[in-house]
Amino acid sequence: MPMSTGARALYVALVVVVCVVFFFERSHKKAQADLPSPAPPGAYRQRLVAVGDLHGVLQMAGIIDDKHHWKAGSDILVQTGDEIDRGTYALDIYKLFQRLRTEADVAGGRVVSILGNHEYMNALGDWRYVTNADIKHWGGYKQRIADMESTGWLGAEWLANYSVAAKVSMSPYDVSPSYSFSHGSLSPYFPFLTPFPQKINELGHSLLERALTPPMAEPHPPNQYEGLPKGTTPEEAELYSQRGPLWARGLAQSPDEKQVCKQANTIRDKIGVRRIIGGHTPNFEHIVSRCNGDVIVIDTGISYAYGGVLSALEIIYTLDPVKDGGEMLAGQRPFVVGGAAADVEGLGVLVKGKEYHEREEVFAIYEHRKQRLADEKRTVTLS
Ligand SMILES: *[C@@H]1O[C@H](CO)[C@@H](O)[C@H](O)[C@H]1NC(C)=O
Repeated sequence: MPMSTGARALYVALVVVVCVVFFFERSHKKAQADLPSPAPPGAYRQRLVAVGDLHGVLQMAGIIDDKHHWKAGSDILVQTGDEIDRGTYALDIYKLFQRLRTEADVAGGRVVSILGNHEYMNALGDWRYVTNADIKHWGGYKQRIADMESTGWLGAEWLANYSVAAKVSMSPYDVSPSYSFSHGSLSPYFPFLTPFPQKINELGHSLLERALTPPMAEPHPPNQYEGLPKGTTPEEAELYSQRGPLWARGLAQSPDEKQVCKQANTIRDKIGVRRIIGGHTPNFEHIVSRCNGDVIVIDTGISYAYGGVLSALEIIYTLDPVKDGGEMLAGQRPFVVGGAAADVEGLGVLVKGKEYHEREEVFAIYEHRKQRLADEKRTVTLS
């Protein structure tokens, strides 16, 4: 039965109120996940947390404190894009990440920011998912555009500190695992996978720069969508296509598990990573791990105020000496054990030619529980 205009307006208003209340409730909920288990004394330890979004999650995962400051020491934080659209507070989230990036640098940690299809949509004037509340919170659409243009603070930050794909290593040594991060799926048929991630990021950067060079496209709606900017190359258009790493869903969505694992293997060999991690295709209940964690999809729909569960991916990597001896690697600073919880007692060093027990633990963290997705151990020699 069709709703009357009045009933529909009331319905929409109700949905908005529920979403806003929900957001506030969640962002103020206390962090409750278990703290990660400490590394053995003398071990090298690197923790990585990857999130789809938001303050609530960052607190839950022990990345920020109550006042929203970095408290994660040498941890690596990866955010997989789509910080914008469908909500109200995109402005605050970008500002938070900008500040965290600097705070993390100072603390010896790192923030890795990935661009999603929604960042590109905004840059291209495709504002179909931008809410009026967001525009109002931003101070009007003119201010929003001014901030996003390459001459504005956000446009400059996107161009300087965000990328379409990233390869993140858990130590400075080749024996340690690397992971790929991109918002959408990687496909073995995407022609610009290698060199990874340089080629993808080169195309992503030139397209973004083109879109953000003033004057930016007038927002659609109400204006007509103009498509990719004048001068866009076929390679850039391919990057922004359904097959590209901003939009593709293949590894996340394909029901054929065997096929997915086969494709994942091809990609992992090609780009030299242990796991392929991304967002874009939400599962509202849990983080999705396929092929024994070779493919991990971490979008649980938090960013959309849709009511997905709060979640974060946590990877804890340790190298624990098999026995003493060996030569300290030239020019390497001693590694601090335990990230945020480190004290002087826990100082450890990695030594060349020495054998280590390597352990890589992968967890999905939720508000009230933590699930182990993978736990891999082997012995490695640093070279
Ligand atoms: C990029 O991040 C660094 C901190 O890592 C910061 O100092 C710099 O201002 C940022 N660049 C822009 C253009 O925001």
